[in-house]
Amino acid sequence: MFRSRRLHLIVVLVAASVAAAQPMSDREIESKINALIQKMTIEEKAGQLTQMGLTPESLELARQGRVGSFLGVLGAKQTNEAQHAVMEHSRLKIPLLLGYDVIHGYRTVFPVPLASAGSFDMPLLEQAERIAAKEATASGVKWVFAPMVDIARDPRWGRIVEGAGEDPYLGSEVAAAKVRGFQAKSMADPDSVVACAKHYVAYGAVEGGRDYNTVDISERLLREVYLPPFHAAVNAGVGTLMSAFNDLNGIPGVANHHTLTDILRNEWRFDGFVVSDWGAVHELLAHGTAADDAQATLEALEAGVDMDMVDNAYRTIPELVKSGKLPMSVVDEAVRRVLRVKFRAGLFDRPYTDAAREATDILAPQSLETARKLAQESMVLLENKGDLLPLKKDETVAVIGPLADDKASQLGPWAGDGQAKDAVTPLEGIVAKIAKEHVLYAKGVDIPPFEHGVGAGVVSPAPPSATGVAGQESGRPANIDDAVEAARKADVAVLFVGEFAGMTGEASSRASLDLPGDQRKLIDAVVATGKPVVLVLESGRPLDISWAPAEVPAIIQAWFPGVEAGNAMADVLFGDVSPSGRLAVSWPRSVGQIPVYYNHNNTGRPTSPDRWHTGYLDMSRDPLYPFGYGLSYTKFTYRNLKADFGQATVATPAAHHRGILQVTAEIENSGSREATEVVQLYVHDRVAPTSRPVRELKGFERVTLGPGETKTVSFRVKENDLGSYDPGMHWIVPSGTYDVWVAPDSSSGVHGTFEVK
Ligand code: NOJ
Repeated sequence: MFRSRRLHLIVVLVAASVAAAQPMSDREIESKINALIQKMTIEEKAGQLTQMGLTPESLELARQGRVGSFLGVLGAKQTNEAQHAVMEHSRLKIPLLLGYDVIHGYRTVFPVPLASAGSFDMPLLEQAERIAAKEATASGVKWVFAPMVDIARDPRWGRIVEGAGEDPYLGSEVAAAKVRGFQAKSMADPDSVVACAKHYVAYGAVEGGRDYNTVDISERLLREVYLPPFHAAVNAGVGTLMSAFNDLNGIPGVANHHTLTDILRNEWRFDGFVVSDWGAVHELLAHGTAADDAQATLEALEAGVDMDMVDNAYRTIPELVKSGKLPMSVVDEAVRRVLRVKFRAGLFDRPYTDAAREATDILAPQSLETARKLAQESMVLLENKGDLLPLKKDETVAVIGPLADDKASQLGPWAGDGQAKDAVTPLEGIVAKIAKEHVLYAKGVDIPPFEHGVGAGVVSPAPPSATGVAGQESGRPANIDDAVEAARKADVAVLFVGEFAGMTGEASSRASLDLPGDQRKLIDAVVATGKPVVLVLESGRPLDISWAPAEVPAIIQAWFPGVEAGNAMADVLFGDVSPSGRLAVSWPRSVGQIPVYYNHNNTGRPTSPDRWHTGYLDMSRDPLYPFGYGLSYTKFTYRNLKADFGQATVATPAAHHRGILQVTAEIENSGSREATEVVQLYVHDRVAPTSRPVRELKGFERVTLGPGETKTVSFRVKENDLGSYDPGMHWIVPSGTYDVWVAPDSSSGVHGTFEVK
């Protein structure tokens, strides 16, 4: 489509704009916005508030200044071309903001977010998003629909995979780290993107885990659990937010004035813009709060949604203004927010990307190293009886299971521009780690799609890799006998089972958490050979494996580890690194326990679960594995907790912020190998005006210790961060006794108390 003279022009423009770029002051930005708004027609204003997919028709609208943003346009050539349409042909030359879902990496695909949150490694998460931003901008994408910061306590919900799990403190730390990674010092930098915290808000609380469903929760739960990661993202300077599909206490997320304006704008002073989720303004008709697109537009715009994603409902804005139903001031405010972000993103100075960057910045070797490290740190060792792991490199290993050589599933459900061919499968990783003659491969069974599933089976298995390992070229369909035969010939069997990537993510909720298809039969058959078995689970959610600890000695939860999956798995399986990932979500014993999460309130009968059955008659009320849990190849011993609540050495101006909790504990590596422990700090307020969670995470630190080494780990928590809402929803820090634990997970640890006076 592009003539070479135009390409040349763009190259010149890029070079000129790189030289010219200077950060603009806020005052300068606001005066430029004022000048622009004065010149804009109502159609151009509505255009800035409209996001579309790229088609010849929408490109023509962009030339007329009637599109503010495209989504899903990738590659320097295409993105520059779209930008060119606006910069060369539209009246006011307002650059486009080009958005894309960069959920866990762009082309270098990192582990899925539920997995990487379990690394508890904020600098590494930040670095991963830096890489994602660099790759995305090289391809002309300046806006990412990430981070997804929805707290989720229900693994039936397919989208639990996209967020950081169940805890608001961890979720907030992850949200801030990701925003820092995406936007860095300035979102105007050529390798930074504008981030978008989503889905605002409480989408993770959908009833029954059914996607897009109703949410009915208290203001307390909203503020104490679901809002904090969004607030953390706003405090970290996030440029945009995306409203949620669900209704919250009867008001759809896209029309919720309380959350979008009272809280977001008035309380938190957020001055970026909010985009609706895909088609959500029009969906107000299905929700039943609007009769037509014009009414839906009024509701959404007045609630505080500035940009409309793809459904064209905001095209009714000119008519609404002309008829006097919609004040121009409301439109101008939304336009102002959109333009503010475009100025902050440096788009007026630098609308084009430098096409040469695609060759150097995408899938760079250092990026793959980061992906491998994050994948190593995200894997959770759930069981390791008799120290079966790590495996010895000179043993014969049967590599078995439907996910052992499936490239596409390694990437996970929302893999940006990730490509199956880039992914290293477990089989490939193992073959690269040990002698090929020591590896026997058998797929065993296929994973069939679910009968009712929309998402299920969407990701069809990629062609197998070409490792040349025995058993692989048989050309026979998957067969359990082959798996049994491979296990018999080997010293140890490693089974790669779980879900296809397409069985999780958006519109992929499940009512059962069982291993799909005949995978359980496969496991039973291999276990019956008597060979030691390692189960490696790949999934986007905790699966029901309550039977497994009695059946197999070693279990690793690998989630969907991304492009370096197989290499990272082999590193962990063969002990080149000790696993250090922790569960960012409680692991239920059964679907019937859901919701099960660690930070629940006490009941009035908390101490005798057997007598008064505060749990179930037929099952423990505790999860199979608690939040924060994960083993390593060594043993850590916790002792000597000291907690002191006193005055801060440096007092802050507000008197009630002055207190500071200082906690120390000694951690010893009492095993024989170097390893990293995720040391966690929990507190519990014993007497408060409202019932408080039995524990709340307030800090964590990754500590690497050599064999026999001891370190004192210390935490500081600001007084204000120990507080909660009173019955009138005022934030208070109750005085009295608090419990404190320094712990390897949310259900154990060394305990002490402290007093808030
Ligand atoms: C719908 C999803 O809910 C949202 O997360 C995503 O960013 C948009 N579609 C755009 O793809």
